[in-house]
Amino acid sequence: TGRVGVLTGGGDCPGLNAVIRAVTRKAIEVHGKEVVGFRNGWRGPLEGLTTPLDLDAVENVLDRGGTVLGSSRTNPYKESDGVERIKRTLEENRVDALIAIGGEDTLGVAHGLAGEGVPVVGVPKTIDNDLDATDYTFGFDTAVHIATEAVDRLRTTAESHHRALVVEVMGRHAGWIALHSGLAGGANVILGPEQRFSVDRVCDWVTRRFERQYAPIIVVAEGAIPEGGAEVLQTGERDAFGHVRLGGVGTWLAEELAQRTGNESRAVVLGHTQRGGTPTAYDRVLATRFGLHAMDAVAEGDHGRMVALRGTDIVRVSLEAATAQLKTVPPHRYTEAQALFG
Ligand code: F6P
Repeated sequence: TGRVGVLTGGGDCPGLNAVIRAVTRKAIEVHGKEVVGFRNGWRGPLEGLTTPLDLDAVENVLDRGGTVLGSSRTNPYKESDGVERIKRTLEENRVDALIAIGGEDTLGVAHGLAGEGVPVVGVPKTIDNDLDATDYTFGFDTAVHIATEAVDRLRTTAESHHRALVVEVMGRHAGWIALHSGLAGGANVILGPEQRFSVDRVCDWVTRRFERQYAPIIVVAEGAIPEGGAEVLQTGERDAFGHVRLGGVGTWLAEELAQRTGNESRAVVLGHTQRGGTPTAYDRVLATRFGLHAMDAVAEGDHGRMVALRGTDIVRVSLEAATAQLKTVPPHRYTEAQALFG
């Protein structure tokens, strides 16, 4: 019988190894199938970069951050003969089903390949929690924990120095990490990328907080843009080297607050600390369940699908529905949080 291939694409995310482990163990122990890992996202099947995934390979990886398979943002549709090369690699390695673990880009490619006859099953992954077809993605809970801990720590130093502290968290298109870590950490202002924010309003909340003799904490998503500020501020965009410009909006806002309110302020950019290290128990469980269910889909020959969390159940959705649109934070979630600002 054919083998099962596994790859991880896009930005890494705590919980990836938990998925790889669950897929591997279920494939070998329950279905009697061999598993082969493809290295570095879609680059693996493009260039035939493989690594054996046996039971030993997935010992002691459940709690490990990152991905033992490596990752990349390589897109086979931007390479010449990409699809043909992938089909050839799968054939040469006797792979009759591929499990692709990734975010919107990786799953978009998976969807395209499924349409061209490649037997592929998707597993959703992103710390940003912005995939529409699933209630939660693994990695998000870990990122929120890390950001919340940062907010807690920054509050005590901010209070000691009577400063405003701007915490910039990840989230190019969706403010889920900002909203959840802001609520969990009791932030005094939360700003996401979904709507432009008014610096005047932020100043009002900050001033009110200082008037009560407390230090304001402002949580801002990397992709947030001030009203009328798009030209000055190109945050969340990728530069010529493919780097997301982190640290743009947070640093800018801290300077602006200092100037406008006359209070000292500092900015902290959490960046990739939110993606590294061990996953929380919640993320380990979700990632493990996704892995087990993805293997079920493979065993049933149910290709072109993605596993997803709906309520407390793992379900399957089409890769098409999974990649149709991003799940951003609805405006009312920010509005309801405003009762706690200032
Ligand atoms: O998609 C996850 C994410 O963490 C975004 O929030 C961020 O903009 C991006 O990845 C940064 O990616 P990298 O530095 O790995 O290119």
